[in-house]
Amino acid sequence: MKTADIRSAFLDYFRAKDHTIVPSSSLVPASDPTLLFTNSGMVQFKNVFLGSEKLPYVRAADVQRCLRAGGKHNDLDSVGYTARHHTFFEMLGNWSFGDYFKRDAIRYAWELLTSVLKLAPEKLWVTVYHTDDEAYDIWNKEMGVPAERIVRIGDNKGEPFASDNFWQMADTGPCGPCTEIFYDHGPEITGGPPGSPDEDGDRYIEIWNLVFMQFDRAPDGTLSPLPAPCVDTGMGLERLAAVLQHVHSNYEIDLFQHLIKVAAELTNTKDIANKSLRVIADHIRACSFLIVDGVLPSNEGRGYVLRRIIRRALRHGWMLGVRGDFFWKMVKPLVEEMGVAYPELAAKQAFVEEALRTEEQRFGETLEHGMRVFDEVASKSGRTIPGEDAFRLYDTYGFPVDLTADIARERGLTVDMAGFEQSMAQQRERARAASRFEAKGQMPAELASQLKPTEFLGYHTLSAQGSKVVGIVRAGKQIDQLANGEEGFVILDRTPFYAESGGQVGDTGTLSNGSGEFDVGDTLKMGGVFFGHAGRWHGSQPLRTGDSVDTSVDASRRQATVLNHSATHLLHAALRQVLGTHVTQKGSLVAPDRLRFDFSHFKPVSREELATIEALVNDEVRRNAEAEVRQMAYDDAIDFGAMALFGEKYGDEVRVLKMGDFSTELCGGTHVSRTGDIGLFKIVSEAGVASGVRRIEAVTGAGALAYVADEERRLGELSAMLSSSGDDVTEKLRQLLDRQKKLERELESMRAKAAGSMTGDLANTARDVGGIKVVAARVEGLDAKALRDGVDQLKQQLTNCVVLLAGASDGRVSLVAGVNGSATGKIKAGDVVAYVANQIDGKGGGRPDMAQGGGVDKPQLPDILNGAVEWIGKQLAG
Ligand code: ALA
Repeated sequence: MKTADIRSAFLDYFRAKDHTIVPSSSLVPASDPTLLFTNSGMVQFKNVFLGSEKLPYVRAADVQRCLRAGGKHNDLDSVGYTARHHTFFEMLGNWSFGDYFKRDAIRYAWELLTSVLKLAPEKLWVTVYHTDDEAYDIWNKEMGVPAERIVRIGDNKGEPFASDNFWQMADTGPCGPCTEIFYDHGPEITGGPPGSPDEDGDRYIEIWNLVFMQFDRAPDGTLSPLPAPCVDTGMGLERLAAVLQHVHSNYEIDLFQHLIKVAAELTNTKDIANKSLRVIADHIRACSFLIVDGVLPSNEGRGYVLRRIIRRALRHGWMLGVRGDFFWKMVKPLVEEMGVAYPELAAKQAFVEEALRTEEQRFGETLEHGMRVFDEVASKSGRTIPGEDAFRLYDTYGFPVDLTADIARERGLTVDMAGFEQSMAQQRERARAASRFEAKGQMPAELASQLKPTEFLGYHTLSAQGSKVVGIVRAGKQIDQLANGEEGFVILDRTPFYAESGGQVGDTGTLSNGSGEFDVGDTLKMGGVFFGHAGRWHGSQPLRTGDSVDTSVDASRRQATVLNHSATHLLHAALRQVLGTHVTQKGSLVAPDRLRFDFSHFKPVSREELATIEALVNDEVRRNAEAEVRQMAYDDAIDFGAMALFGEKYGDEVRVLKMGDFSTELCGGTHVSRTGDIGLFKIVSEAGVASGVRRIEAVTGAGALAYVADEERRLGELSAMLSSSGDDVTEKLRQLLDRQKKLERELESMRAKAAGSMTGDLANTARDVGGIKVVAARVEGLDAKALRDGVDQLKQQLTNCVVLLAGASDGRVSLVAGVNGSATGKIKAGDVVAYVANQIDGKGGGRPDMAQGGGVDKPQLPDILNGAVEWIGKQLAG
């Protein structure tokens, strides 16, 4: 059975069991700061388990792209060393949100495996959490799995609930006991059954994990029950394919065989079983999908994980003898293999290739050199690579430390990680500060389960009466009241305050009632669907849960923000028209005073392009089209032509904003009623922010007028200075600059003339010492260059000579000496300068034929120079 057919068979089975089939979400989890990457199918449903998000269905299934590199689930180091580990893989999953539980979850899994896919039951083993008698009995009594193939697994990882059979997504969040199904690949493969000492071999392979989601884990490790028990399952597509295609390694399935074949061709490798080919085939999937989902190589966070994976792949190419770029060429075969199941991959092929090629060329320059350094270090280090060398490889040659460790491992060496960490301490501190996940705005699960999502009134109004305080939160904990002067997050049942999302900043304003006022400094989303008003209470009585308040948003701030938000959509559309459809949003900030838009594009946007983009947006503004907002089903919206952003999470019902025939995008933000409200759009800057990402900042409305007024004021000042009427300011300035150039040229030639006549005079005064002319003179007003020219001219005129010029200005003296013709070898220019410099508190030196120095202008300088002539005469005679 082909991998593609397995995907369909799985989805067909669960569709028939009343499951709603949902699309794979992005590898970058939508607004979940606790998680680096989507590492399993349940990530997009996290808030549903926690009870803060409701879906119109209670059963779902999908094929989810997952990444386990960096973060809690990290398999990067195992790729290439086992038959079944991947950075990127596809997970087949089915879910129950408070609907069926253990019995049906187990029954469905067993039926699909044994009846639909026809796996031999005696090849299947199962594990259960050690205390889960219920699951044990279902397996044993109802499915008929004999006791000898059911293994109880306890807390085998050193802490309570730390177990292979207790699954959690991350350090916090939904979790619960699980039961896992294993496939026995047969006695010819080494390895023992689950729970045995040699369980890590490749014989017994876990294929499906059924998690009974029951708890929410808090940062301090305590578990609180979820609002309802749920089911979360995940089956590795590649592992299942290996079983169904009767091979013992994931890398032998159809999908990988094609990729490995191309990798072998590109790297000119005959041995198709070479482990580096597997690494390359694995990594091209991870890297391509990360880029599709908006991650680009960088030195921080997700971008750094991507960079590490790319560089690991390149190093394996290097080991196979590749000395140019090759990795990006794997994108095409990947699209052939997976582009149908993931159209977003096919659509971005060129962009992914370009991003990979750029990174490949960048690292290619240092890889070779770094490998030489590694060899040197390895040959003198014994069994352990010192931390500081690993750091040097990292810092100078761009070798991520796990890459160094990987190379070391191949040669039976280890890396002193503690030492590396020490050397890294500073950088690490910086990176940690940047990626520290903020605890602010954390919603306690218990409160979330009691509340309805906040009703947002702010599309139509900026103030409302009689909202109810339904919760108050401080530092992630629910509290009952805020006393005078206390800060916290206030959650209301309904509010006109927009909570920060989609780049648009949160609203500010006030909540008030008879006993006081709450200053809202920001509004943000808590638990996905509750609007937290962040601020401080001032009142004669405390603000309590249950109190009623009147709400009032700072209207002018909101209005300014709205103009910038609508203009952002027009800008996005204009960018795609002018630069091409590879432009996608990489980040956006919509604030009252400006908008900032980051987008993918590989070169600077030219002045002309910027002018065209700005003009296009302003055309739309003047067209004054109505900004129409429609609610519709997600799929209808996409059919309607709406642009959706990767990595954004959308519900089933989405808002579509359409402005004229120019821009149609999904957006939950607040917008103008007609494009004309924007007034004026001005781009104020364009710059690169990361490789392949550009940033435009712009202003609108009153902000744009203020910007123009400021430009005008500067122009006015310029005109006044140039006594121009304004229109001819450029012409006047050009004339001025031309005139300045002409004057400079004149000055230069005057100087040259003056220097010429000066040197002529000086040449006449030269003393003759046995056929060699000697000059030492003080001159006024010549800069260092003119002095040097003067010395050169004298050398030419006098042929056999020693020349010293002392240029005095502002109390300082510059000295330049030259020696020429038959004087050469008899005296050095440097000594001449030193002789004089010593007497005027200065210093100097240079070549035998030309030297420079300086000192202090002294009244006795003429005598000193006369003395120098004497001294030079003596040197020449001697
Ligand atoms: N979320 C569970 C896993 O990833 C199913 O194993």
